[in-house]
Amino acid sequence: AETHYHEFNVQETPVKRLCRTKNILTVNGQFPGPTLEGRNGDTLVIKVINNGQYNISLHWHGIQQMRTPWADGPEYITQCPIQPGASYTYSYTLDNQEGTLWWHAHSRWLRATVYGALIIRPKPSVPYPFGQPNKEIPILLGEWWKGDVDAILQQALFTGAGPNFSDAYTINGQPGDLYRCSSKDTVKFYVDPGDTVLFRVINAALHQQLFFTVAEHLLTVVGADADYLKPFSTRVIMLGPGQTTDVLLIADQPPARYYTAATAYASAQNAPFDNTTTTAILEYTSFPCDSKTGSFLKPILAQLPAFNDTTTVTAFTTQLRSPSRVEVPIDIDENLFFTVGLGIVNCNPGPRCQGPNGTRFAASMNNVSFVFPRRASLLQAYYQGIPGVFTTNFPPVPPIKFDYTGNVPRALSQPTFGTKLYKLNFGANVQVVLQDTGIFSTEDHPIHLHGYSFYVVGQGFGNFNPSTDTSNFNLMDPPRRNTIDVPVGGWVVIRFVADNPGVWLMHCHIDSHLIWGLAMAFLVENGPGMLQSVRPPPLDLPRC
Ligand code: C2O
Repeated sequence: AETHYHEFNVQETPVKRLCRTKNILTVNGQFPGPTLEGRNGDTLVIKVINNGQYNISLHWHGIQQMRTPWADGPEYITQCPIQPGASYTYSYTLDNQEGTLWWHAHSRWLRATVYGALIIRPKPSVPYPFGQPNKEIPILLGEWWKGDVDAILQQALFTGAGPNFSDAYTINGQPGDLYRCSSKDTVKFYVDPGDTVLFRVINAALHQQLFFTVAEHLLTVVGADADYLKPFSTRVIMLGPGQTTDVLLIADQPPARYYTAATAYASAQNAPFDNTTTTAILEYTSFPCDSKTGSFLKPILAQLPAFNDTTTVTAFTTQLRSPSRVEVPIDIDENLFFTVGLGIVNCNPGPRCQGPNGTRFAASMNNVSFVFPRRASLLQAYYQGIPGVFTTNFPPVPPIKFDYTGNVPRALSQPTFGTKLYKLNFGANVQVVLQDTGIFSTEDHPIHLHGYSFYVVGQGFGNFNPSTDTSNFNLMDPPRRNTIDVPVGGWVVIRFVADNPGVWLMHCHIDSHLIWGLAMAFLVENGPGMLQSVRPPPLDLPRC
């Protein structure tokens, strides 16, 4: 196994998009940031130097960080942020995962521009189970704001209302030729006829679930969230923020230029979204074009589903399976039921209460709206025994039973606030039912668990019913993921073994929902021996 050393310089960089130039935070001046690559078993060592003006931390989304929770990255959860002028070195191994992950800032909304791909290939001389592609192309889907992203966050935080929509979606940092002033910078992917291309698609958008497609070409899904899947073909894939999907494309169409495109999937009627489309161009190298006059034939258009096409999404997600039989935890020690949803908080009419009817948005799990600590990170507080930073009374089930997706008692739209953790014994078999609620509106929530990949054993619409739904669980070959979409007005059930000690955030990867409190954290206790325990913190771990 190898060790790969990197230096990540966080800095302000001027970038021009949508006809205007603004400074954005980047790593090493690159946008999107550098791609990290390694093989299963390798170690990554990344020294992050903060030359920007904001506190920042970086998260390696989907890396399990077995025994190294100090390298996980979410600010105030596993570390205090890296202050301007300071640095911190993240060091971790790539263990038992292969495929596509990504990294991003985990401080406020800085991940809007601070993100990149993280690719894990098999050990030397181990082939991909789906054969060898001729080309591998990372595709990072994102969102772009004309204004300053931090100002948009402040606006959402301090008015209590929803954030401004982004001004464009992007593919590898570029909006593409359907947006103003963007045509000549449209990203191009070149293929030779007959090529097999592996697209590693990552949804790095802050708020938006996205459909992705390539005109006239079938996509064969072969992996997601750095685990292989049983291959199947589809015209379109959907990714929630945080999710990755690996697809193969065979260049078997007449040589031409084809649109590669992504656009919003907005599950709920009143879910905010921007109905524009970002494009890149898949161009066959043999395609004749007049480079002197620059006159290209228009690319062949891509067909994307309607923004509210939940049927297509369900048809897609229910096809995801592990390649063969997997070991799903069967005897459940912790049977948890968490509601996830948006709510509103009554507040005194005024500038901070510009949500619906003079309220303020809040979001919660089991009616607890998560509050990030400030004095110390949760992991430090746990490891060093600092009292008063968190409590361990996160409720295992909702405070009261109700019709989650139907008529909802008004009292439930008023969450309580707290830094509540749920404690798990080392090695416990855990099942979590994630149930969307209609307290404010039903909406998809891409829920991400740090420190683990979990099996997705079931999903459905309406209220989860243990006596009928449990018998339909897939305990044979469910997919393994780190981020799962809780379907609009529905539920999803995940299982994992709590074998990675530490403090692990679980949250909605839509960042507006995260700042409104749609999060909780698990505290997984050390196991019996040294090898099942959290390693000591690195000496340069930032302090609050
Ligand atoms: Cu990709 Cu907690 O995040």
